[in-house]
Amino acid sequence: MTDRPFASLEEKLAFQIARQGPLSLAAYMHACLADPQFGYYSKRQGIGESADFITAPEISQMFGELIGGWCVAAWQQLGRPDPFCLAEFGPGRGTLMADLLRAAKKAEGFTKAAHLVLVETSPLMREHQKAALQKWKNALGGFEWADHISALPGMPLVAVANEFLDALPFRQYIKAENGWREAGIAANDAGKLIRVTLPCLADPAILPDGADDQPPGAVFEHAPAREAVVEEVATRLMDHEGAALFIDYGHTASGFGDTFQAVRHHGYTGPLAEPGAHDVTSHVDFARLVAAANRTGLPPAALASQSDFLIELGLLERAGALGHGKSAAVQETLRRQVERLAGADQMGGLFKVLRITNPVLALPGHGKALSAPSA
Ligand SMILES: C[S@@+](CC[C@H](N)C(=O)[O-])C[C@H]1O[C@@H](n2cnc3c(N)ncnc32)[C@H](O)[C@@H]1O
Repeated sequence: MTDRPFASLEEKLAFQIARQGPLSLAAYMHACLADPQFGYYSKRQGIGESADFITAPEISQMFGELIGGWCVAAWQQLGRPDPFCLAEFGPGRGTLMADLLRAAKKAEGFTKAAHLVLVETSPLMREHQKAALQKWKNALGGFEWADHISALPGMPLVAVANEFLDALPFRQYIKAENGWREAGIAANDAGKLIRVTLPCLADPAILPDGADDQPPGAVFEHAPAREAVVEEVATRLMDHEGAALFIDYGHTASGFGDTFQAVRHHGYTGPLAEPGAHDVTSHVDFARLVAAANRTGLPPAALASQSDFLIELGLLERAGALGHGKSAAVQETLRRQVERLAGADQMGGLFKVLRITNPVLALPGHGKALSAPSA
């Protein structure tokens, strides 16, 4: 937009807003995460106990290992295609994929048949993934990065994504006297970013049931970018067969409420404070994702709580095996990890696992399916 140097993302966005008008929340979130100079994922590796937030693969190796078992089952039921595309979307530090590959290598032929594609836009995160996965390069059938799902090779696909969708931009709408209007970001005279309501009205087709009955000030969130990803993967499965898992925090029924959040050093701050310095996300509306997948004509999508999914995949048995013959301290660590991953009041209840496949496959993890009313 300009060669002018900026001291911060806030200054850069205020300058842009002064010339071009307010931003949608989606444009603001994209800048916060992906601005090449100031964006969170461009300059900060924030995942881990000693960083900003913790994800399931960083809590325990068991998470990636169990998903590795799921990928092997999918590959075997697809008829052991060679080659096939093993993909991860938003791989973070590469920990999930490293644990997945270590567990899956026990299945003869899996590693050699796998053409691994890491879908990752951040050059900084790619460096971390390279360090974690470099040793697999020669054992795999192929290994590359892609900026976008559309660049995946035309092969049967086995794909996983943990906390990827929540990092994609979303829009917010606010109930005003005269209808649902889009929320945006403007700047005040001092150059501070502020929330505003934009003149644009929401397309009535995206509003959930009960929108007319909401009081003024009610908030509704919509993330077309997330639906587009699921739809694109589903369409790919229609063309090439395969299976995909999307794991994230969110709700099974579309509803109302502001879930825009910013996290740093394991604590919440306002999403407008110091843009680019925090991880900004919102909760995922799984009802709309199920509807997006089902619209493509794929076999019906399935949804499970992370708790049910991991326990059905053998979380308790794996913890028992890892702890067998070990000290009380190791066993206590494993017990805590199980509790964090699968406790109903921890990740186990908040996180959901969306599964899509083509053809229908008898895969573990969705025996106790959650219902997702169609959006
Ligand atoms: C919250 S982290 C999740 C990391 C990892 N899956 C885990 O569980 O630890 C989000 C990841 O998605 C990447 N990412 C964000 N937006 C992306 C996009 N549009 N396309 C590809 N990757 C993206 C980030 O760089 C980061 O690696």
